[in-house]
Amino acid sequence: MRDAGRVLPRNDPRQYDDLADEWWRPDGVFAMLHWLARARAALVPPATRPGALLVDLGCGAGLLAPHLAGKGYRHVGVDLTRSALAHAAAHGVTAVNGDATAVPLVDGCADVVAAGELLEHVPDWRAAVAEACRLLRPGGLLVLDTLNDTALARLVAVRVAERLPTVPRGIHDPRLFVDDRELVAECARHGVDLRVRGVRPGVPGLLRWLLRQATGAPTPPAQAPRIVPTGSRAVLYQGHGVRGG
Ligand SMILES: C[S@@+](CC[C@H](N)C(=O)[O-])C[C@H]1O[C@@H](n2cnc3c(N)ncnc32)[C@H](O)[C@@H]1O
Repeated sequence: MRDAGRVLPRNDPRQYDDLADEWWRPDGVFAMLHWLARARAALVPPATRPGALLVDLGCGAGLLAPHLAGKGYRHVGVDLTRSALAHAAAHGVTAVNGDATAVPLVDGCADVVAAGELLEHVPDWRAAVAEACRLLRPGGLLVLDTLNDTALARLVAVRVAERLPTVPRGIHDPRLFVDDRELVAECARHGVDLRVRGVRPGVPGLLRWLLRQATGAPTPPAQAPRIVPTGSRAVLYQGHGVRGG
């Protein structure tokens, strides 16, 4: 990834500044984040109390927001990247500029914590998990998705994906990918019983989307690929779990 003539290191957050205009383009380089946001939001039940808070760690431009509409949460997003937060705020997210490993919010404030496609970008992902669990009230829900620390994930998400025009080069550093068993163990250490399952884009929708991309035809949102469960967690996986009392 180049920035003003310089080559940025892998996973450099300044890449998100360069790509700021891409966030809300449904067929742009962050298209898959839109599909994943929809799948993540499907794991979030309607709020059970007035004033319920959902803290979205590494919220980016707030792509989760439209999928939470009507569920009754106040959506607070925390992110390192100010340019992304500006877009998030424009979509109704209360934006907090901060690090997911040191979140400026009080213990137990959140009914739901979301961490979508975040952990594989954080050099100390364990610290981000500790923060996510700290923010949850007892009975609160953690929802996340991330890339697994496997050879297959490195092949698919870096070597293959980054050759496609629809994926930014250097956006991932494969050394930061997160082993699913270690993640489950870390969540358990912090009182959250995380259940994980593999996910991937559904094949028919993905093929239709790729065909439209090749012909330059826009994809109507209703026809965007769906994220579906799959038997293997080796590449991309989703987790959800409740914090014990
Ligand atoms: C792949 S994007 C995902 C954005 C959003 N969760 C979504 O799914 O659309 C990763 C986001 O994490 C943010 N990020 C990376 N490291 C972070 C950290 N330590 N603390 C907070 N945000 C971070 C980046 O700025 C970027 O917005």
